Formats: sequence, C-alpha cells, structure tokens
Amino acid sequence: MTGYPHRHLLGIERLQPSEIAAILDTADGLREILDRPIKKVPALRGKTVVNLFYEPSTRTRASFEVAEKVLSADSLSVAAAASSVQKGETLLDTARNLEAMNPDMIVIRHSAAGAPHLLARHCRAAIVNAGDGAHEHPTQALLDALTLRQRKGRLEGLRVAIVGDLLHSRVARSNLWLLSKMGARLVLCAPPTLVPPGLEAFAPVTHRIDEAVEGADAVMMLRIQRERMTGGFYPSDREYHLRFGLTEARVKRAKKDVVILHPGPMNRGVEIASEVADGPYSVILDQVTNGVAVRMAVLLLLLGGGAEG
Ligand code: CP
Repeated sequence: MTGYPHRHLLGIERLQPSEIAAILDTADGLREILDRPIKKVPALRGKTVVNLFYEPSTRTRASFEVAEKVLSADSLSVAAAASSVQKGETLLDTARNLEAMNPDMIVIRHSAAGAPHLLARHCRAAIVNAGDGAHEHPTQALLDALTLRQRKGRLEGLRVAIVGDLLHSRVARSNLWLLSKMGARLVLCAPPTLVPPGLEAFAPVTHRIDEAVEGADAVMMLRIQRERMTGGFYPSDREYHLRFGLTEARVKRAKKDVVILHPGPMNRGVEIASEVADGPYSVILDQVTNGVAVRMAVLLLLLGGGAEG
C-alpha cells in the first residue's frame, strides 16, 4: 500500500488529501538522497522514462531528468522543436511511436489542456502531466506545498496569497486545488482582465495587492504569461509592476516570517522586484530543489510498485 493508488498523475483536481499527503511524505523521505556524496539509488533500475516536451522548460524538464538519474531509471528527453512533430506528426502518433519502444512512463508538457489525459486513454505507459496549457501543473503545486510545509510545518490554516496572471496560470489552478484541499486559506489577486470567470467560487478575489498580502503567511507570485496573451491585458510592464508587483514595501504588510514563492521563470521588475526575489523571505531556489524530490516521489510511487490502476 503506497497511499497513491493511481496509475497516472494528470492533475491535482481529482486527488484526495491523503493521496497528496502520501506524495509529500514520500518526497520528504527522499530529499536526503540529494545531499549524499553519491546521489544514486537503484530503486528504478530497468525502468524507462520518456520526457516529451512540446513547450520550453528549464526547471521541470531538468528536475525530472535529475530525479530519473538519481533513481537509476533509463531516460530520454524528446523536445518537440527538434523532433518529427516539425514534419507534421500528431501528438498521438508521436506518443504511439515512442510507446512502441516500450517505456514505463511518459512525462509530457504540452500547450493544449488535456493532452496528458489523451495519452492516458491511449497509452500503456504511466503518464505524468508536466504542464498542459493553462490547465494544470501538478508537480509544481506539489513542490510548492512541500516547500511551504517544510517552512511552516503545516498547510492547514495558512493564509496564502496567490498574485498575478490567474487567467493563464496552470500553476495557480493546481495550487488552488491542492491548497484548498489541504485546508489553507487562499486570497487571489490580479487585474480584472486576468481573472477567469467563476474564480470567486474557490476563494476571495481582490484587485488590490496590498489587501492580498496583508497578514499573509506566504505569497505566491505568478509569472505574466506573455506567450499565452493575444491582446492587451494591462497597459505596460511598468504599470503592472506599480499596481501588482511584489516590492519590499509590500512584503512588510505580510507576517514577519512570510515566505515568498515563485514557480519561475521570473519576469524581474514586472511581477516581482529583484530585491524580493533574492531577499531573505524568498524560497524560490528551495522550490527548485524540492522539485527534484517531488518528481522522485512521483516516479517511485508510479513505477516502484503498488499502483492498482
Ligand atoms: N516552473 C516551471 O514549470 O518552470 P519551467 O517552465 O522552466 O519548467
């Protein structure tokens, strides 16, 4: 019994709190391996993982690769930009051809919401969502939660402000599911143009960052996702920073032991000031380290035996 009874990790939305806790506990237990002089255990020897990335990535792809190497899985990474996708091959044909090589897992990032779900319906391999459009980024929310839990000792009851491009952010969506399931108290903040309809049903929404940050245990800043914007959602980067950017002065409105999170990559001087990103309350690089531990946990729980279907 692993506490995670699923074959895939497609999102946070359908997970039970106990299943989220099982992944976080497993990641906590694995994290010390990363501090050993020899960072290698044989847990997934003989397993093969394909990392299939249709969108750019630094953190997610690198940390899946590191996690796979630490656990001794054989892995290969396919970037769509340098693959036969450029010759017109469909997602499903690409996945079926990769699966003909008999991998145990496919980790996929895609610009279309639901792409990992499509693969899960058609492939034998375990599927892990590494970000699908503006839908979900489950391993990011898990590493955010692990970082918060390490710093605060709990998730339940924490006041967490999520500030930025709520409309396009899969990180926000996965965190909304995860943090509300785990009992955190959320407040959401964005310009009116960057709030998806119906969001108020999940948590209070404000358009004033000072109000969102007031008394917060944690502030999670979101990247402005220019690549998903087709129109003018805000007048200029300068104005966005003035009205919604996290500055040192604004951090002072939060609790004295506040932690500042950002999933990366950051737009310095837009959603976050450099003094805050590099300052004493920032846990942004801890998030990256925890990303390896969370991805090790996901690999182990899905491939290490015990999954029931
Ligand atoms: N946080 C995140 O998903 O970063 P990358 O796009 O670099 O993977």
